[in-house]
Amino acid sequence: MPSVEIKTGVYWIGVNDRTTDLFEGIWPISKEGVSYNAYLILDQKKALIDLSKAIKTDEFFDQIGELAEPSQLDYVVINHLEPDHSGVLRTLLKIAPDVTLVCSEKCREMLSKFYGIGKNVRAVKDGETLSLGKKTLRFVMTPFVHWPETMMTYEESDHLLFSCDAFGSYGALRGGLFDDECRDPDFYEKEALRYYVNIVAKFSGPVLKAIEKLKGVALRVIAPSHGLVWRKDPGRIIDLYQKWAGYASGDVPAGITLIYASMYGNTEKMMNAVAQGISKTGLDLEVFDAARTHVSYILPSLWIRSGVIIGAPTYEGSLFPPMSEVLNMAAVKRIFNRKACLFGSYGWSGGGQRELLSRMESLKWDVMDKFEFCGAPSQADIRQGIGLGEGFARRLA
Ligand code: FEO
Repeated sequence: MPSVEIKTGVYWIGVNDRTTDLFEGIWPISKEGVSYNAYLILDQKKALIDLSKAIKTDEFFDQIGELAEPSQLDYVVINHLEPDHSGVLRTLLKIAPDVTLVCSEKCREMLSKFYGIGKNVRAVKDGETLSLGKKTLRFVMTPFVHWPETMMTYEESDHLLFSCDAFGSYGALRGGLFDDECRDPDFYEKEALRYYVNIVAKFSGPVLKAIEKLKGVALRVIAPSHGLVWRKDPGRIIDLYQKWAGYASGDVPAGITLIYASMYGNTEKMMNAVAQGISKTGLDLEVFDAARTHVSYILPSLWIRSGVIIGAPTYEGSLFPPMSEVLNMAAVKRIFNRKACLFGSYGWSGGGQRELLSRMESLKWDVMDKFEFCGAPSQADIRQGIGLGEGFARRLA
């Protein structure tokens, strides 16, 4: 995508990635894509803010070359070392060996570990400034949003915040860079939530601290390292991040995520009965087949809803493996303190529910109802399933 001037002398020069299948090697983005937003500031001194993953490297440097000679860059600000933002760094240093890398002290250590780089690194402290001429950069330490070395960079004359991962989203840019050019904001907000829960949610405490730190700072433009640049309504993405980070406490809106898996359709039959019961109450519901839905898409629903219903068959005396994977990842992402119901089928001796119950303890999910049935559900079982769904939904509402 061609460069875009976002303020006088400040350019978006990012890379739109529509070919990577798994972000961080885990999270599917083959349908949605992602952008690695980097920025170039042309003043008396020339500074890059963040870089890109090492794909389309020629395109990245060509974009810079249309605006400035890459070998003449003075600074590269590295807000965050994760290689989706720093992957082209060694190539850059071959082109511009004298450029100064500006980063946090922690990042300075990590530069050595990740890239063997120790020369021309300037570690900055919280609140420190760097004059580029007419423009001045101020560095704001925001550790663990999303790695320990992370900081944000604020440009004082334009009130422009380069926020790196914070306030970002999955979703390649579709021509429009700014929130006011975007014709499908629902897509980006949904992908911002998925990105938040997949990547950042475990660090919700540091996110809230960072947002608190930004209070009182005039913010006219928020330029994250992924997704849209927010210039019409920067408060919108801050409010969303604040709301989502707040859910880490377990104080979450009423609603149900119903996750099921079924080997031969018996647990699926029961899932339909349970969903029918929930539907009598009108409570918000999302349903996922754990075996056919990547956990990336299930986690956001768990994050924003207070209730979970798990329906899974016993598999070789234990919990059905695809469901086990969903619960593992919920624990990794610290999705704790939810209300839960369990159901499932077994063929002879059971065992799935026993394992489910022990998982509930480690997740701190409060089990309010549960039942198991053998083989195919009987009419009485189906009635019980409808009652379970309705009763659970009424207790949550
Ligand atoms: Fe976009 Fe934490 O890297």
